[in-house]
Amino acid sequence: MGAKEIVTGVHWVGSLDPSRKYFDELIPLPHGTTYNSYLIRGSKKVALIDGVDPSKTDILFKNLDEIGIKTLDFIVSQHAEQDHSGAIPALLEKFPMAKVVTHSMAKTMLQDLLNIPDEKIQLIKNGDELSLGNKTLKFILTPWVHWPETMFTLLKEDNILFTCDLYGSHLATENIISKNDKIIEDEAKRYYAEIMMPFVPFVKKHTTMVRELKPKIIATSHGPVYKNPEFILDLYEEWTSGKMKKKVLIAWVSMHESTKKMAAYLENALKERGIEVISHNMTGIDSGVLAMDLIDSASLVLASPVFLGAPHPNAINVAVLINLLKPKTKFLAVIGSFGWAGKLAENFSELLPNLKAERLEPVMVKGVPKEIDFERLDKLAEIIVEKHSEL
Ligand code: FEO
Repeated sequence: MGAKEIVTGVHWVGSLDPSRKYFDELIPLPHGTTYNSYLIRGSKKVALIDGVDPSKTDILFKNLDEIGIKTLDFIVSQHAEQDHSGAIPALLEKFPMAKVVTHSMAKTMLQDLLNIPDEKIQLIKNGDELSLGNKTLKFILTPWVHWPETMFTLLKEDNILFTCDLYGSHLATENIISKNDKIIEDEAKRYYAEIMMPFVPFVKKHTTMVRELKPKIIATSHGPVYKNPEFILDLYEEWTSGKMKKKVLIAWVSMHESTKKMAAYLENALKERGIEVISHNMTGIDSGVLAMDLIDSASLVLASPVFLGAPHPNAINVAVLINLLKPKTKFLAVIGSFGWAGKLAENFSELLPNLKAERLEPVMVKGVPKEIDFERLDKLAEIIVEKHSEL
């Protein structure tokens, strides 16, 4: 796929990466990803907003050639993470007159990561403007979405807001303009849950600011461009609202079926009481699907057998991830089976210090669950129903 014009003088020149399977060797990418880079041609100067992953530098160069770019004056670096900055050394080699435009914190990070020399960097501050002739770039520092140095750029005359990672989606599609359909919503949600959810206060603050700016277009650095920004802003306001649904997420793992039976029984008991339940086996779980359910599930049930005196390692992995994602879960319950010893509720609490959820009475069963144990699970279901009624 080659360069595509978004509005007069502004081209998408990024690259698709449909075969990438994971981000950070952690986040599954069922639809690959894109690294969006934008070329802005002013009457006097030419600027590139962000680069691409270094593995796709040749595609970026091909796209720039295709639209006749022989010189580049500015490379605006909105985020130092290498999927956007990694091509900068090669860009500076190809366009030796270009300056990397960024702020002081990002400069340090770019130099740590990419060894960019001082003389190649032009520093800006929050609110500064840079004229390209008939087009003007305004820089807005937006820390912690999702690194401390993240920044937006507003192309004033066209009212296009370049937001780098924020509002992105991992979706390798040739439709670079969002159709605002279900797949975009799902992939933007997955992306939000895994990348932005730990930074909710900052995401909310910056989204309020974006609302006030009223951009005509939001151009992110992953996934399609939003020509109707209301679509993604509405979704972000919903996801960051902290309003939880009366929904229970059960994440379970089982070795000899006891814990599986308990999880299935509790799922049924909750459904019979009119509660929405999502159940995931933690073995081989897609962490993106789990993260999406964490956005709005009021209750989380972790179900695990005791394994060598501790939660099952697959459950430990999931708990560590949940703790990092900092969901707004209201209630946490632990259930599971043990052979001779084990304190899973305490173990999970230690693994989940960021989870401010109220801890419910655990249901631990010696060996296989028996009638009396199923009654305890019924009681847990009742407690969850009661707790949800307070929401
Ligand atoms: Fe797309 Fe934080 O990099």
